[in-house]
Amino acid sequence: MKFNIAVLPGDGIGPEVMTEGVRVLESVGQKFNHQFILHYGDIGGIAIDRHGTALPQETLTISQNADAVLLAAVGGPKWDDPTAKVRPEDGLLGIRKELGLFANLRPVKIMPMLADATTIKPNVVQGVDLVVVRELTGGLYFGKPKKQWQTGRGRRAVDTLAYSEHEIERILRVGFELARTRRKKLASVDKANVLETSRLWRQIAIELAPEYPDIELQHVLVDSCAMRLIQRPTDFDVIVTENTFGDILTDEASMLAGSMGMLPSASLGTKNKGKLSLTGHSFGMYEPIHGSAPSRAGQNKANPIATILSVAMMLRYSLALAKEAAAIENAVLQVLKDGYRTYDIMEEGKSLVGTREMGSLIMKRL
Ligand code: IPM
Ligand code: MG
Repeated sequence: MKFNIAVLPGDGIGPEVMTEGVRVLESVGQKFNHQFILHYGDIGGIAIDRHGTALPQETLTISQNADAVLLAAVGGPKWDDPTAKVRPEDGLLGIRKELGLFANLRPVKIMPMLADATTIKPNVVQGVDLVVVRELTGGLYFGKPKKQWQTGRGRRAVDTLAYSEHEIERILRVGFELARTRRKKLASVDKANVLETSRLWRQIAIELAPEYPDIELQHVLVDSCAMRLIQRPTDFDVIVTENTFGDILTDEASMLAGSMGMLPSASLGTKNKGKLSLTGHSFGMYEPIHGSAPSRAGQNKANPIATILSVAMMLRYSLALAKEAAAIENAVLQVLKDGYRTYDIMEEGKSLVGTREMGSLIMKRL
């Protein structure tokens, strides 16, 4: 089969990890007889430098026309001035919004051989296998008014946390549907004891529950969820939550898997096709959950596994190539079993490798 893929390497370690992701994708193409036509675009800081905007129209157009989008990371100290007019992150938020990618799936699964490599006790992380479904195009990130201004008594700023019933319902349904394909437990995370948006969220979750009688629904307050994630993370199966809560909880949850360098993500939308599908036909953008790690850039150090696993998620959720996705995931497991580690997951007695070598080792085992 033939697919068009938009490739957006971005900044910092982005281009290095993307190179490995693309090499793995191309060898999957050779092995399984698919043709991946790659369309490269600038996003983030590099786009600001080259085009004066973090999300050039050209990048948006190739992404809209593609079957799926691969993105690595954006941002860096060069563009960090808080008074700057344009920021690399605008590119990321802009493309999520423009492509309508409202459902962000962040699976957190510990690879058994890495249970000793986390900062948490091995008996706590062993067996962790959860997915956070984060709402991605609403809430504080996009609510208006959003501004800073001068008053007679100093500066003021406002962000707005707003959600519509439609936005809440569609993301909760993704949570319910995903739970159906897994252990059938859904934790709906809110702050309903304080926030009005959370009270609406919880009401809608309660109203939808009868449509999913096979799913065990729990309401968890976000602060309590943060605690339980490190206390007994194996209790969780699917977590569904709003944008900001999901941002914070997924950085925390990533530590359960040893390193942010291990975790892929999928941002799914419907791209005019109505209902979101979890069976391989959703339009989506796929990216590692880590950032651009500017201090590690250009040193062949960064862990490319999160990007490589994002390629696998793309094959599974957007291209309906489940067998090919599993081949990548198995290759990653095999390389880890064989004792190869990048610096972020390194332990005594293992073999330290760089970005490029890790990519090559995974390709060899495909
Ligand atoms: C993430 C990141 C982004 C976010 C930043 C880079 C804008 O932290 O994808 O979790 O806050 O969504
Ligand atoms: Mg984040």
